[in-house]
Amino acid sequence: MDRDALDEALNALMFKHKGIYFDANYTSPEVINEIEHMEIKDHDVILVTYPKSGTIWTQQILNLIFNEGHRNGTEHIDTMTRLPWIEYNINNVDLKSHPSPRLFTTHLPYYLMPRDLRFRMAKIIYVGRNPKDVLVSFYHFYKMNPNLKCTINWETFLDLYISGKVLGGSWFDHVRGWNTHKEDFNILFVTFEEMKKDLRSAVLKICKFVDITLDEEAIDTVVERATFKKMKHDPLANYTFLPNDILDRSKGAFLRKGTVGDWKNKMTVAQSEMFDKVYKEKIGDLPIKFLWDLNEEPSP
Ligand code: A3P
Repeated sequence: MDRDALDEALNALMFKHKGIYFDANYTSPEVINEIEHMEIKDHDVILVTYPKSGTIWTQQILNLIFNEGHRNGTEHIDTMTRLPWIEYNINNVDLKSHPSPRLFTTHLPYYLMPRDLRFRMAKIIYVGRNPKDVLVSFYHFYKMNPNLKCTINWETFLDLYISGKVLGGSWFDHVRGWNTHKEDFNILFVTFEEMKKDLRSAVLKICKFVDITLDEEAIDTVVERATFKKMKHDPLANYTFLPNDILDRSKGAFLRKGTVGDWKNKMTVAQSEMFDKVYKEKIGDLPIKFLWDLNEEPSP
């Protein structure tokens, strides 16, 4: 496909606003502008991620931690209703009167978050994932998007991702922004890889941060229900509740592989080395480390 046709398809899919690309089908610049004025309450908990970093996984964990009815199966509220999106309120949840403690989800960069957050005790959980696995996951995710009227090949997608011309904007900017402004917020950083390595410890870490004490049995339930295997078949958590005109399930699944290091199956050695160079230039100065493979130690 030629570049003009691709640009046309991308322009129909997303708009750029304040440095970030948003999905034009589910939000607007007006909605994004309003978020700045959103009233925040002290007990709010906001899950923040860059796309494909473990968002629906953590939504499920938080839904299980906060709601006994979700743990014991007596209520049937899907994770998107329980933790509605701030910028993509697809299911029209009344964000203002959402039951307290209000739980929300967003892919927003730090500078587009509600201003009120800086004056409140509200908690932010930021889940990060190594950017090569994010890239591969994102590439497959784009294929499921029925609003994208073209097929993007792998090499082109790699370029778009590195230049930040994808939904959610640049991974590098997102991570840099949240990490360098962490003092402005009440924030806990968690990684996809640590959840993968030791889910129980990650659940306990999140419980501690949100000040919830669960007994052993409840923790066991949270951990069990948040495994890839269980979530894959949990219609309240796996986003199969989204209609096909939002996500074409004949082309893939939200819960695809759920592994660490899948990038090795997709990136060539040259692509990986080029990516390492960009990574070093853009965020090599930050004191953060990612796990690129489950058998290795985390490295910058
Ligand atoms: P893959 O495409 O690599 O499989 P997001 O929710 O931010 O869009 O992230 C989606 C990624 O998280 C997908 O990665 C998906 O498989 C993975 N994921 C979701 N739930 C998971 C779970 N319980 N365990 C491991 N990975 C999970």
